[in-house]
Amino acid sequence: MDLGCGRGVECFLAARAVGVNGRVIGVDMLDSMLGIARSGAAQVAGNLGYENMEFRKGYLEALPLETGSVDPVISNCVLNLTADKRRTFAEIRRVLRPGGRVVVSDVVTEHVPDAAILNDDGPRCVRPLNYPRLCSLFRCVRTSILTANNFPETRNAWEKRAL
Ligand SMILES: C[S@@+](CC[C@H](N)C(=O)[O-])C[C@H]1O[C@@H](n2cnc3c(N)ncnc32)[C@H](O)[C@@H]1O
Repeated sequence: MDLGCGRGVECFLAARAVGVNGRVIGVDMLDSMLGIARSGAAQVAGNLGYENMEFRKGYLEALPLETGSVDPVISNCVLNLTADKRRTFAEIRRVLRPGGRVVVSDVVTEHVPDAAILNDDGPRCVRPLNYPRLCSLFRCVRTSILTANNFPETRNAWEKRAL
């Protein structure tokens, strides 16, 4: 299950990875994104020779999924956007099968961001987690972090861009 699947690119990759007997569910709050994902999925299914993807409209904070129904949960650059992170993590835990995995790629800061950033409600708002808070949210939902990779080359590129 892909949280905040957007145009569905990760779902297309997952569709191949899980194969004909697997199933991929993308969730996003925007009809516009879901529309693009569904038309892309039809093309991907044609190429693969099987259909194993579906896209559901919903919020991360109230996932349209049954309890204990998915494994793994994946997400790319979405958790930073949610306003209610505690609820989002609780939802991830709820829908995950016991013993299931969460694989997240996202913006994580080393320090607590300024209140001005965290309270920004503008269209481009990013409310990044700092690393200790991310760990504590995973602990709150009784999920442990097995590995965490920092990509300093990405960070350096952004820092250079900001200068
Ligand atoms: C930066 S895009 C990432 C899309 C995709 N994961 C990717 O990597 O291409 C963020 C996506 O998350 C969705 N999104 C943001 N907040 C959300 C929320 N609270 N509930 C559901 N979807 C959300 C947006 O609609 C958007 O499609």
